[in-house]
Formats: sequence, C-alpha cells, structure tokens
Amino acid sequence: MTTLKNHTTSVNQLSGQAVPIPHQVDDTEKINAFVARHPGKPVIVVQGLGFVGAVMSLVCANALTEEYAVIGVDLPSAQSYWKIVAINEGQFPIIASDPKIDEYFQRARAKGNFMATADPYCYSKANVVIVDINLDVDKQADEQGRLLNYDVDLAPFSKAIKAIGDHCREDVLVLVETTVPAGTCQKVVKPILVECLEERGLSSTQFKLGHSYERVMPGPDYIDSIQNFYRVYSGVDERSANATEAFLRTIISTEQYPLTRLGSTNATEMAKTIENSYRAANIAFAVEWSRFAEEAGVNLYEVVDAVRMRPTHQNLMYPGIGVGGYCLTKDPLLASWSRLNLFASAEGLDISVSSVGVNDQMPCFAYEFMRRQYAPQSLSKKRVLLLGVSYRSNVADTRYSPVESFYNRLVQDECDVYLHDPYVRHWEETGLNVHASYEQAFAEPIDLLVLSTGHAEYKDNPQLLELCMAHSPMFILDTIGLLSQQSLETLATQHTVRVVGRGDLQ
Ligand SMILES: NC(=O)c1ccc[n+]([C@@H]2O[C@H](COP(=O)([O-])OP(=O)(O)OC[C@H]3O[C@@H](n4cnc5c(N)ncnc54)[C@H](O)[C@@H]3O)[C@@H](O)[C@H]2O)c1
Repeated sequence: MTTLKNHTTSVNQLSGQAVPIPHQVDDTEKINAFVARHPGKPVIVVQGLGFVGAVMSLVCANALTEEYAVIGVDLPSAQSYWKIVAINEGQFPIIASDPKIDEYFQRARAKGNFMATADPYCYSKANVVIVDINLDVDKQADEQGRLLNYDVDLAPFSKAIKAIGDHCREDVLVLVETTVPAGTCQKVVKPILVECLEERGLSSTQFKLGHSYERVMPGPDYIDSIQNFYRVYSGVDERSANATEAFLRTIISTEQYPLTRLGSTNATEMAKTIENSYRAANIAFAVEWSRFAEEAGVNLYEVVDAVRMRPTHQNLMYPGIGVGGYCLTKDPLLASWSRLNLFASAEGLDISVSSVGVNDQMPCFAYEFMRRQYAPQSLSKKRVLLLGVSYRSNVADTRYSPVESFYNRLVQDECDVYLHDPYVRHWEETGLNVHASYEQAFAEPIDLLVLSTGHAEYKDNPQLLELCMAHSPMFILDTIGLLSQQSLETLATQHTVRVVGRGDLQ
C-alpha cells in the first residue's frame, strides 16, 4: 500500500517533471516478487542511488562472474525519490558521456535484475549490502570563500546503518564504500550492527563488515573506473576481509587490476582520505603559484610544462578556476575531523585543511582577476555568458561547482548572466535552466565570455570560434587554460583575451 502526500514532490532532474512522494512506502510484495523471479541468485542491495550508487548498481547487475539480483534503495525525499521512479520506469537518473552506462542499464532491464525502492524491507533479502550514501561536512566560510569552521554530523550516516541493522540477515556482508572518517567502520558501523542484531534476538557474530572505497570517475570512463580499475579493501576481521575480497572479484576485473588488501578498516578509510587530501593539496599549491605568476607576468602553463619534464614532478597541476565536486571539497576535512574526534588527537591535519580553504577561494581569485583585467569598466548590467556550469569537464555533476561561486559574484555585481553547458539542463543549486545550443546562448549580444568548465567540446571548437569571431568585441576569460595558442591568437585579433595563470597575456 502506497499513500500519497499530495503536497510533497520530488522533481525529476532530467525531465523537470514533478513526482509525488508517497507518505508511506510498502514495497514488500514488489520486492518479494522480484527476488522470487531470480531463484538462486544472491541479492545485492545498494544503499544510495547517487553518482556512485546508481552506477555501482549497474556494475553489480552486470557482474563479471556471478548473476546477481540488484535492488537500489534510496530515501523518499524531495532530493532523491525521483531517481527510484525513474529507474523503475526505464530512465537512468544520470546523464553521462560514457556509452557503457546506457548499455549496462538496458542489459539489466532486459534481464530484469535491477529494481529500485525506498522500502528498507529490501535489506532483509540481501546477501550483500553496499553502502554508497553521502556523508557531508558542514563548512562555514566568509565572503571570499575562506574557511572559518567545519564539522561532521555522523547522525544521518548512523541512521542509515541502523536501517540495515534493523532488517538485515545475521550473516549479511555489509560493504561500506562511502568516504568516511578513519575509524568509522570499527567505532560506529560495527557497534550499530551488533546492537541492532542483538535487539532482534539474532547472532551478532556472523555478519561481515568490509570497507572498500570508490575511485569512480564520473565522465567518459564512468563504468570502467569501477569495473576496470584497482581497488583497495579491508575487513573488520579476517572473515570480513575474505568475504569482501570474494565479492569484489565477481564485479571487478581483478586479473588485470589486482586488489590491494590493507590490514584494517582504519587503514583503508585513511587511504581514501589521503588520496583526496593529496590531490586537494596539490591543487592548492597551483592556486597560490598561479596568483604569483599573474603578478609577475609569467605564463605558469609554460613553467609547469618545463617543471614536469622531471619525472618526479609530473603531477604538478595547472592553474584553474578552483576545485569543485563532492569529494575534494570535503574529504581532507573528514580526515582532520577523524583525527580530532575519533582518535582524540589535540591536532587536526593542518596542510589538508588549509588546502580546502585555499581551493575554496580560487573562484573569488579568478573573479577578481577578471574584474581587474576588465577595469576600468563597471560590471553592472554587463551581459556575461558562462560556458560550463558543472564542476568538472565532461560531467553533469554541479555539486559544489566553483562556477556557482563565480556566478554568485556576477549576480552581486548586477550582471545579466547567460548559461551554456552540454551536460546540464537544469542547474539544481541555482534553480536555473541552462542552454544546450550555442545559437541560444549567443542570442543576446555578449560583453564578457567566460570559459568556466573545461568541457572537451569547448576546446578550439570551430563553431564556437566562428560565433565568437562574428561577434562584436568582447572580453574573453579562459579560467582553465583550455584554448590553444592558435585559438587565443585568433580571438585576440578581435577581442580582449585573458587566461587565469597566464600573466604574459595581461
Ligand atoms: N561522486 C564521486 O565522484 C565520488 C567518487 C568517489 C567516492 N565518492 C563517495 O561516495 C559516496 C556517495 O557519493 P555520491 O556522489 O554518490 O553522493 P550522492 O549525494 O550523489 O548520492 C548519495 C545518495 O544516498 C542517498 N541516501 C542518503 N541517506 C540514505 C539512506 N539512509 N538510505 C538510502 N539512501 C540514502 C541520497 O538520497 C543520495 O541519493 C560519498 O561518500 C562520496 O564521497 C564519490
């Protein structure tokens, strides 16, 4: 029985259609029938149908050496309920440039081995539960984006684990893939599962608890970044590590991409946050140097290319508009929080924390650079076209996009802002629709054109260059060094062109 609360809806982010959210969800019959249609197949429940969980569900439904019945479970919330309805109606909830996404989804539909629900009853059927939910960091920043404070609330994550413990089989394998503060599996997840199972009068010694973090890269290699890539894993004990390994071998090409087992869940949890903290610190380093290069009239791109000739320095980063997305903007803080709160250290992780602070200010630096270069004119009433709103090239994800902070400054300065992005139709964080065609984007005369996301289709695109060259003089800002020297020179014959981190163009 599903009752509808008429006033509550969840908007399908792909179609813009409102989906009513049931007040109560009871999919017992549907779940029983689904499992009955797949006799003998182990049941995998993937908790969280976001950018990771939805695609992980497809990888499980198309496992390499085992046939699974896969149930994706999410919340009946305004933000997420539409994903459940979309999946069950044959629409995958993520636009991606990887053609394998559609191929895997259609194959799962043909086999009928993937369904979605908001009913926690599904956990009772699971041989394996994969936890792919979000765990957010609450950040406070000033107007420039400077980090003032941060905190982690484990309550929603703990509630999600409790939902598993309240329904699961006593011999279930729970595999945590969510990026968590080091210590979480041992100190938070395991005690919750033990308590829930004991409260239900079940054995609390048979479940297995593993941790294996995602290195998924939304974009053209979305599926391969899960199925054909190296994985690190662990368990809270030997039995759990073995069960985790056996499961991962069925979904990942481990012959080609061998698994790495670490000795404890603390170690794998730390490994994930080290990976992202290292990357965030590396980017923060480039942010600081790109500001110096602008002041000194130096082309930092050339400098980085020269330094990268040294084999030890090949991952020195280029300048950019800043870091966005869900992970690099929070994972260093999760790590520091863990040190302070789960291991009671007197010190956090200062370099990691300050990297987040520096990176969060980069859109403000890029904006100030544009304002200085555009001077002495005021930006008020200027028409600005942003090419790209997602946080990263060739993906549809707009979460914590640095473009949002750039956009907000334009609005504050009373600009009229126009948006284009080949991957995003509706920019959820600003509530704005986004143009997909250049003709629409250039329908109004433009004063400033900003390359704000490095989508491949913006790079030296002849149609885009032609539109620019047919346009009256404007100020063009390339925030990510996307355009070739040749395109820059062509554009400079008619327009004022600047590139963040290329002081020589000022
Ligand atoms: N997006 C990436 O590129 C990426 C890469 C590697 C790791 N990760 C990590 O993977 C995890 C998931 O990230 P994401 O990008 O998929 O997040 P997301 O916000 O896109 O998805 C999380 C989903 O979990 C759902 N959820 C929350 N609580 C739930 C509950 N109690 N029961 C069922 N569903 C629940 C949310 O409604 C949402 O749909 C995070 O820890 C993230 O740091 C993400």
